[in-house]
Amino acid sequence: MNHTAAQLNSNMSTFSSTGTLSPPSHSAVVVRSLLAVTSEERERILKDVEYNIFAFPAGLLTCDYLSDSGTSAMTDVQWAALMRGDESYGRNWGYYCLLDTFRDIFERGNSPQYAFQGIITGMIDSEYYRTKLLVSSHDGFVNGGPHQLERPNFFIVPQGRCAETLLFSTMSSMITEGAVEGAKVKPAIISNGFFDTTGANAAVAGFELQTFTQPGLSDAFPLHLIGKKNFFKGNLDVAAAEAYMDAHPGQVVMILTTITNNWAAAQPVSMANIRTTAALAKRKDIPFFFDACRFAENAFFIHEYEEGYADKSIAEIVQEMFSYIEGFTISLKKDGLSNMGGVLCFKDKGMFAQTYEGIGLRLKERQILCYGNDSYGGMSGRDLMTAVTGLYEVTKKTYLQNRIGQVQSFAQKLLANGIAVLSPPGGHAVYLEMDEFFVGCDRKPDDFASVGFTLELIKDFGIRAAEAGPFGWEWDKKSPEERKKIPNLVRFAVPRHVMSEEHIDYTVAAIKDLHDRRHKIPNVVITRGKDMRLRHFSSGLQPVPVDHTITGSYMEEASRQLSRLAQVIKMDIGAKGQLLNALALAGGKYGQRPVPQELDMSKWLSDVSNDHSFFEYSVAMDQDTGDAELRFLIEAQSEGSCNIVQMQESALRLNDAIAKGYSSTVSLDRLKILQDLFMPSPAEGIFAAWHSCAASKAGPEWKIYLNPSGSGSGTAFSVAREAFERLGLSSAWELLASTITPSDSVLYFALDLSPHPEHSRVKVYLAHPGASASAIAQKHAQICPNACAYSIQQFCASMSGGSLGPYEAKPVLSCFAFTSEAPDRPVGTVHFPVVAYAENDAEIQRRMKEYMNVASVSAAYRERYGKMISAVQRRPLDQGRGLHAWVSLKQGSRKKRTTTFYLSPELFGPLPTTHSKLSNGTKHAD
Ligand SMILES: Cc1ncc(COP(=O)(O)O)c(C=O)c1O
Repeated sequence: MNHTAAQLNSNMSTFSSTGTLSPPSHSAVVVRSLLAVTSEERERILKDVEYNIFAFPAGLLTCDYLSDSGTSAMTDVQWAALMRGDESYGRNWGYYCLLDTFRDIFERGNSPQYAFQGIITGMIDSEYYRTKLLVSSHDGFVNGGPHQLERPNFFIVPQGRCAETLLFSTMSSMITEGAVEGAKVKPAIISNGFFDTTGANAAVAGFELQTFTQPGLSDAFPLHLIGKKNFFKGNLDVAAAEAYMDAHPGQVVMILTTITNNWAAAQPVSMANIRTTAALAKRKDIPFFFDACRFAENAFFIHEYEEGYADKSIAEIVQEMFSYIEGFTISLKKDGLSNMGGVLCFKDKGMFAQTYEGIGLRLKERQILCYGNDSYGGMSGRDLMTAVTGLYEVTKKTYLQNRIGQVQSFAQKLLANGIAVLSPPGGHAVYLEMDEFFVGCDRKPDDFASVGFTLELIKDFGIRAAEAGPFGWEWDKKSPEERKKIPNLVRFAVPRHVMSEEHIDYTVAAIKDLHDRRHKIPNVVITRGKDMRLRHFSSGLQPVPVDHTITGSYMEEASRQLSRLAQVIKMDIGAKGQLLNALALAGGKYGQRPVPQELDMSKWLSDVSNDHSFFEYSVAMDQDTGDAELRFLIEAQSEGSCNIVQMQESALRLNDAIAKGYSSTVSLDRLKILQDLFMPSPAEGIFAAWHSCAASKAGPEWKIYLNPSGSGSGTAFSVAREAFERLGLSSAWELLASTITPSDSVLYFALDLSPHPEHSRVKVYLAHPGASASAIAQKHAQICPNACAYSIQQFCASMSGGSLGPYEAKPVLSCFAFTSEAPDRPVGTVHFPVVAYAENDAEIQRRMKEYMNVASVSAAYRERYGKMISAVQRRPLDQGRGLHAWVSLKQGSRKKRTTTFYLSPELFGPLPTTHSKLSNGTKHAD
């Protein structure tokens, strides 16, 4: 199935998965204007803060994606509630409101009591206190009345990590004291993914951490299913967790499921997974807790994507999720929509409370010691009121639709612009896949290029995002085994209610711009604090410009680029090995020489590539399947190679080497019949012979390109005719001659060096100077049974940027391939010299994208084309011409259409970009 950029751009924030149009969920009533800051100013400040993005002043940014935690814009209701904050020391009314809000949100489902409303409006009396706020309740996550004093189970703290500290340190001391029956001294906690502070708090308290995330986080996800399906990649791997418990009886004292799973790229957890985890915990008699920071976002994923939940309200789903657990910690800075706050709570008289008998009073003691008395726990009365009202807001479906829709649409817009994103996107953040981003740029993990990307993003655009890759995960300090698990991501956490589509579009355009010039993004070195804990918060860094000098030999460089191409077209290892061996043979001793910084003009100037590199790569791709074949073309060199005689000798030497090295797949018999025609003495011309090799199942397939003008350009036609006759293909020549017009010239003659003469091809390349698309198409339609004149014209028009010719610059070529098996049924290929008809390679890429749309190529083809260019690209595409040298269209039998891309290695740089008007047939010649 094909997906256009427009399709990918149709986003979830407007259309839900059921295709219904959802209206905006909010409008702005207060705005904050941003400072106009120049790139130069930001660069100066980056230098002052030692290039540490955490230290960059937020007020000088345009978009800040550093965190979604505590960064939410509050609603007008929250601001109104804030004005009703009660700052009394003992039992402020916000405390009662929060207690009852937790009952409403996590336990009452569709029957909330909204006790806070009376407080906000002030329409209350003492009766209201007695009947609404001071009721004696028990059994739930929040008991009430006198029970909060005798067996407290609800603890307010300033933020989530304080709740974690309270919980883990108190559990640990009770285990150590022997107050918990059966618990071992090095107890373990199992999780689907520990957030870093959660893990750190548990570890500091003496717990062993066991993470079992469902496998497949980075498995490919069909992009057109974003916003339509979700595989709940944040799930706990329940089977693995159970196996661990069986192998370590009595060791595990808690299962903690993080919803959504921030550790696993904010992926959601399904209700089914929560249910089976609860059953496991029950079987093993251990408490099951949530790290519930993003419970509402998780509930929305269940609502949208899990069978059986589409008709349930978010409130009901939350109620069911929390019915399976014993307790939870929550940071109200996320799905509390407030700027501070955290809570720990557990079921009154539940299994956890019984196992850790008396833990409530111990927790309260610590709470008072560290944060303040139980009715505020370090939070101001005003912030309590914003959390109360925020919790109702975040569980509204309209809010969640907008929230999750915005993150999904951000990801879709990036994907539509060719930026790889971990898919499907999770709840609160979009993660860029940086290995994909830097494909072809030769960045090693400890180059910290992803940090370089975040620095450029701040400098040039005032956008802050965080690296979650080799720098943050301390690749340089890890063992080889540990290194394999380190991802290379950059996280864009989307603050709630803060960003408009304008921010997202600006950010997407900025990322795209940096992607276009990714080769120039600096690497980064750590100048201070390399060994500090959590070094990303405070170390000093320095960007280092990337050195693009090619340091290896010709063949090292060619193998590197060919290997990359082989990787992106998913060539099998054996075939790749064949091709690299063939390359080494063809490169010979000369290929071992280091690539000079500048082209040596005193030597033979090869015409194989635009920049006189003596080899080029080509990738032939089936338009329907995206199946690809990789080949190289090379001009044999020798030490002295300066003139055509020496080039002939080199070509002949290579022939012998190939015949010797590949005796089962190569035969020179047919070539020998023709040798005197194409290798005359004396000789002239721009080449003597070129060799190409493609890997195939039967072994490498070699082909030779010969010069019919070796005795002068006037003889090319008769030389080619004579060659056909000698090969017993006179009738084929007659057919070909019927399509040749006076302005055509015979440019190349190519021969498969195969031992099977019946189906090995003889190819003639005709140049058509000044011909129009229709004239070229006509020639093919005349003699090739599979030719479609319309497709040829469409191809030429796309490649030239919309012109149907006449093409006055470098001539378009036609290749006609004959076999003695079917001499009257040639296969035609049109070769368009795109390099001569566009300003730069970025323009050619745009044309290719248009062509892919009109030719309705497959999604696999599109993806491979993009990756293939990235694999060989050394520079921004708009900074020169020549990477795309030629593009050809071959029309085979059964409507098989193959496009071949001829790619220059650009050893000596690109051709300069042209700024002349280049959108019609009158182009500059190269
Ligand atoms: C999953 C998760 N748990 C716990 C925390 C800690 O919360 P806080 O930052 O409020 O301490 C965070 C913060 O980002 C989180 O994402």
